[in-house]
Amino acid sequence: MIECEEIILNNNNMYKIKDISLAEQGQKKIKWAEDHMPVLMEIRQEFEKKKPLKGLTIGFALHVTKETAVLVKTLIKAGADVAIAGCNPLSTQDDVAAALASENVNVYAWRGLSREEYYQCINSVLDHHPDITVDDGCDLVTTIHKERHDLLKKIKGGCEETTTGIIRLQAMEKDKALKYPMIAINNAMTKYLFDNRYGTGQSAIDGILRATSVLLAGKNLVIAGYGWCGKGVAMRGRGMGAKVIITEINPIKALEALMDGFRVMKMEEAAVIGDIFVTVTGDINIIRKKHLEKMKSGVILANAGHFNNEICIPDLEKLSTKKENIRPNTEEYTLKNGRIIYLLAEGRLVNLASAEGHPSEVMDMSFANQALSIEYIAQHELEVKVHQVPEEIDQRIAQLKLKTMGINIDELTEEQKHYLSSWEEGT
Ligand SMILES: NC(=O)c1ccc[n+]([C@@H]2O[C@H](COP(=O)([O-])OP(=O)(O)OC[C@H]3O[C@@H](n4cnc5c(N)ncnc54)[C@H](O)[C@@H]3O)[C@@H](O)[C@H]2O)c1
Repeated sequence: MIECEEIILNNNNMYKIKDISLAEQGQKKIKWAEDHMPVLMEIRQEFEKKKPLKGLTIGFALHVTKETAVLVKTLIKAGADVAIAGCNPLSTQDDVAAALASENVNVYAWRGLSREEYYQCINSVLDHHPDITVDDGCDLVTTIHKERHDLLKKIKGGCEETTTGIIRLQAMEKDKALKYPMIAINNAMTKYLFDNRYGTGQSAIDGILRATSVLLAGKNLVIAGYGWCGKGVAMRGRGMGAKVIITEINPIKALEALMDGFRVMKMEEAAVIGDIFVTVTGDINIIRKKHLEKMKSGVILANAGHFNNEICIPDLEKLSTKKENIRPNTEEYTLKNGRIIYLLAEGRLVNLASAEGHPSEVMDMSFANQALSIEYIAQHELEVKVHQVPEEIDQRIAQLKLKTMGINIDELTEEQKHYLSSWEEGT
């Protein structure tokens, strides 16, 4: 268990973090993110004037990164009280948590917490009785629905950041278990087209390289899942000279990967020839005993999907005689067959555990969706179901992003508007 500091401040703000002396370093990181998140900063200015969240408490379970800190500070400027926990045991940046704590945010997060501590932190956030919840992976929402029913009456709604969380919410909706309205942030085009694809694409490779420093050029890079994240990792892996192989279960995605120029095969075949494996499916046990047994010695396994269940670590443990940490975020497993397998970041999100997560520039759009959707929840009485991000929010974020990048695009002429809305004109 990692030692952490628990403090109650005079004004009733609380924090439980690793080390408050890291605050200055965290503040510098947050400043860097602010300088690279112009859309969210523009929203912050507007919120500061309008105070749309005055009197509301927002409960977060998000990766505690410098970009999340920019979102938190934006909501505070909007008048909200905020309590935040992490959403993954290995993704908290301790200096960012310290910076937030030093600015009187209620923060319960440190890197390397146990499962028990993880849920204690989630419950500490819930003790602040949120009006709106913000989740990445749905652990906050499911804890409320399973154990904290008393909170349901007060909650107006919530936002969910990622694909896996939305899959869980849709299952709750189908079972009629969902008790308050949720907005599926991931499904905004200004989220998944950029965050999942370019964000995960770049940062997953970044995490693998920081952990191992291997050369990608010439290596067989096996990517399980050709969804938005998988496409990004494949694209960036190819850009660095890797020979990319895709495994899929969806025939359309498999065909798309093939026509994008990648090899497509079953994991059983890929297991034999792969050098580096990245799972990014949101599904379970993608790499398991029968695959691990076939792998070459020295292969590297990494996961960029939300939970650490895509690589079956219990199978890897059972097949091994020895396990040793040989570099930060790199575990060397010696198998009974004498071969070596390297597992990165304990099978958790490699981009957040072993690198810094997505670049601020993409989180700018993801968190602009969060900020504007939270404001939307505050202003509306929504039906209890999973809602999409309103299209006007998505469009506005794209326009703002282009504006901050100094890019102008064409506008429809009156003639074009008429043409596109009519059916009379043909050949
Ligand atoms: N690392 C990050 O920072 C980050 C960012 C965004 C999303 N995510 C997570 O990454 C995962 C994928 O997200 P996405 O947006 O790409 O989802 P997606 O739904 O677009 O893609 C997932 C793909 O995996 C495929 N798949 C499912 N089971 C499979 C199996 N057994 N073998 C091979 N392929 C399989 C699906 O057919 C689909 O094409 C989710 O868990 C999501 O929450 C992580």
